[in-house]
Amino acid sequence: MPSHLFTPIKLAGLTLKNRVIISPLCQFSAVDGTASPWHWAHIGQFAQSGAGLCIFEATAVSAVGRITPGCLGLYSDANEAALTKLLADVRSFSDMPMGIQLDHAGRKASTRPTWDLHKGQFVSDEEGGWTPEGPSPQPFTPEWRTPIELDAEGLKRVRDKFVEAARRADRCGFDVIEIHAAHGYLLHEFCSPLTNHRIDEYGGDLLGRLRFPLEVASAIRAAFPAHKPVGVRITGEDWVEGGLTLDDAVVFAKELKKIGMDYVIPSAGNVAPGMKLPPVKPGYMVHFAEKVKREAEITTMTVGMIFEPQHAEEIIASGKADMVAIGRAIMDNPRWPWHAATALGERIETPKQYARSSPQHWPAYAQVHGVALREGEGVMSHPTRE
Ligand SMILES: Cc1cc2nc3c(=O)[nH]c(=O)nc-3n(C[C@H](O)[C@H](O)[C@H](O)COP(=O)(O)O)c2cc1C
Repeated sequence: MPSHLFTPIKLAGLTLKNRVIISPLCQFSAVDGTASPWHWAHIGQFAQSGAGLCIFEATAVSAVGRITPGCLGLYSDANEAALTKLLADVRSFSDMPMGIQLDHAGRKASTRPTWDLHKGQFVSDEEGGWTPEGPSPQPFTPEWRTPIELDAEGLKRVRDKFVEAARRADRCGFDVIEIHAAHGYLLHEFCSPLTNHRIDEYGGDLLGRLRFPLEVASAIRAAFPAHKPVGVRITGEDWVEGGLTLDDAVVFAKELKKIGMDYVIPSAGNVAPGMKLPPVKPGYMVHFAEKVKREAEITTMTVGMIFEPQHAEEIIASGKADMVAIGRAIMDNPRWPWHAATALGERIETPKQYARSSPQHWPAYAQVHGVALREGEGVMSHPTRE
């Protein structure tokens, strides 16, 4: 029976060859927001992976909106030129659609990359850090930097930055934009009652708190060509008492659908201290996607410890989600989609230069891995070549 995971899916005017999505993965390796040689290696390996879509890491729409000084950005001509070149380079050998996650770190900006956290959480002004901005002037904890509360002019500026970054993303050649409205960054901070204490129309009840993220999403949708999909990473639950719930995620997803978003991906947590995590095990956030997809009737991606091809297949086959995003498993093994396809009895195109490494071209390897060869496969094309 054909695999469900390796069935195409259409998002706006774009058809993905399969439903394996490379999750955005911050690399903290940019300089003033500009991609570095590391990104060529990082994205280059993913471009060979056979996934249906690769989504670039959280990319800041302004320098102030970077999580760390090393975050990728799309706020300057230099940032745009580097990403244009990077996309052109990977396109020379891969037709994989490329997406970019646009982000503003809100009150969690000016922090250190994970590998420097032993030096402390924040980057001080003396070290090149900056004052973050957020919906309300409350720090994550008293030790964190206190953000400046965005006023009406500030909100307009941030919205405009998202729009400018979306236009740049189009010019770079990105096929998809994913808006980051999760993980405790600015747009999530607006959504959550734990972080939004505003008394203007951008605070208050859920619809008030969703207003700014929805305005940003609408503005991006208007600025990015209609045939190119726009999705949103939302929060399934804050996992902190008094925070966002899964019912709130359904409301948000319904509103996002109304304004033309092509998919949502519910993730969770990290907006405030005191999280009470459920057991973190394979597929621990799939139920978010399942409920959001069913109740908001929007195309939905899921994420979170999906390591095994059969697990990913089951999620799609049972209709719990339409796509699966893979993070750490694909960093660990950037050929994950090749092996998943083989494990599920499918065949996907691999780069011609590497074709001879795949079981269907290498009978002994196929035998060791128990791969049943199909008619015409297992033929050594160039037995005397090397
Ligand atoms: C190194 C690393 C960087 C990440 N960067 C981002 C990011 O830029 N944007 C985002 O939404 N999630 C980010 N995440 C979360 C992943 O995209 C993913 O949601 C999470 O790791 C759970 O999926 P997994 O179990 O398949 O890794 C990151 C995770 C890791 C491990």
